Amino acid sequence: MKRIVLFASGSGSNVENIVTYFSGHSNITVSCVLTNKRDAHVLDRCNRLGVPAFYFNKAGFVNTPLVLQLLKCLEPDLIVLAGFLLKIPPDLVNAFPGKIINIHPALLPKYGGKGMYGKHVHIAVKSEGESETGITIHYVNEHYDEGAIIKQFKVEIAKEDTVDQITAKVHALEHRHFPQVIEDILLES
Ligand code: GRF
Repeated sequence: MKRIVLFASGSGSNVENIVTYFSGHSNITVSCVLTNKRDAHVLDRCNRLGVPAFYFNKAGFVNTPLVLQLLKCLEPDLIVLAGFLLKIPPDLVNAFPGKIINIHPALLPKYGGKGMYGKHVHIAVKSEGESETGITIHYVNEHYDEGAIIKQFKVEIAKEDTVDQITAKVHALEHRHFPQVIEDILLES
């Protein structure tokens, strides 16, 4: 069995979608979900889905090797950031070369970097009057949103689309494509 460890900080709709996609899969399983937000809705989803989940605070993540040690015990084949908001420390990036991926809700290199997350991305896309947006699935390095791009998917946006409508279109793209890309990476590795 290949093992996925998911990281998330928020609602966790991608986490739920990924867990559902791989439930009953013959070669791939989600080992657990890690979060840095004690009140994140993703934890409710994990409880409902019966998926093991662990919370750590920022001090534990940034100042100690404890999360790294946990990950080493879990022996993941892929670490997937699905709406995870903290920067991954260099020792963790170095311990899992080519094994950490992220999803970004825009077409990188546009609308990436520090501060570009969640609604902020879609507000910026809207205010630039873009006619399309999309998602980028990429490897993680020590810099926000700068690792090698694995796949991008686009969606058209109309002038009259609100930020909420753009958000919904991007979420739909994420839900449609992210599990499949994860599966392809794991089956090719
Ligand atoms: C997604 O749009 C993802 O691209 C971004 O954070 C959002 C997480 O959404 N990195 P959810 O928590 O999975 O619903």
